[in-house]
Amino acid sequence: MSVPMVHAQGVRKQFGRLEVLKGIDLTVERGQVCCLLGPSGSGKSTFLRCINHLEKVDEGQLAVDGELVGYRRQGSRLHELREKEVAARRRDIGMVFQRFNLFPHLTALENVAESPVRVAGVNRADARIRAGRLLGRVGLADRADHYPAQLSGGQQQRVAIARALAMEPKLMLFDEPTSALDPELVGDVLDVMRDLAADGMTMVVVTHETGFAREVGDTVVFMDEGVVVEAGEPRQVLLSPRHERTQAFLSKVL
Ligand SMILES: Nc1ncnc2c1ncn2[C@@H]1O[C@H](COP(=O)(O)OP(=O)(O)O)[C@@H](O)[C@H]1O
Ligand SMILES: [Mg+2]
Repeated sequence: MSVPMVHAQGVRKQFGRLEVLKGIDLTVERGQVCCLLGPSGSGKSTFLRCINHLEKVDEGQLAVDGELVGYRRQGSRLHELREKEVAARRRDIGMVFQRFNLFPHLTALENVAESPVRVAGVNRADARIRAGRLLGRVGLADRADHYPAQLSGGQQQRVAIARALAMEPKLMLFDEPTSALDPELVGDVLDVMRDLAADGMTMVVVTHETGFAREVGDTVVFMDEGVVVEAGEPRQVLLSPRHERTQAFLSKVL
């Protein structure tokens, strides 16, 4: 067995007195798609942010590709990583949010080329060629010169996906990528994510799109109040959930 891409054991996180994650165990194997579902406030975004080192775990262990998030092991000791080292590791993880946060003054192509140039030191000409290819991959080859304001929400989100891919991540995290979109624009974004999954990308996707979760997900994890209530094969969790809380939630979103 290879090392899982994401391995969480007993992950806890508190904000002040509020316990947001109460011991999360979760494994995502390389090349798998894990869909995370759960009511608002259940800790899904916080968990994603922990994976991406944007939040520090209080207790438990969280490893990405065999490396502890935020720490370096030396013998039996753990050393907290410096901000620079954290940033270097974060580059391996692409994140796509509900809000696309594209640079408004840059074209689609420039948005995608920006990080490779600025952060990874790729030369601009090469970065632009690669950015063009990535825009093609998300179906926006003909929109390369458009500014975000000239693109629909769905197109902007696809640019955001291309931008994340430009850093050649080994893991992609999606936090409700389609929930800010008009319904008719959701399909194109899900199609891009489906292609990405088919290409073997490891993905953790917070989504309420149960159709997507069923088709593309290898596992579905239902979270509520900071715990994993149930996890398993998508059909089992979505069509015959074992827990009442899962049933109650699904009856609202389906
Ligand atoms: N930085 C923060 N400071 C304080 N409370 C937070 C912070 N981030 C999230 N929370 C709280 O943690 C809980 C879980 O939030 P979140 O992870 O965003 O849930 P979800 O994504 O499932 O809706 C919520 O009660 C939220 O208000
Ligand atoms: Mg959230």
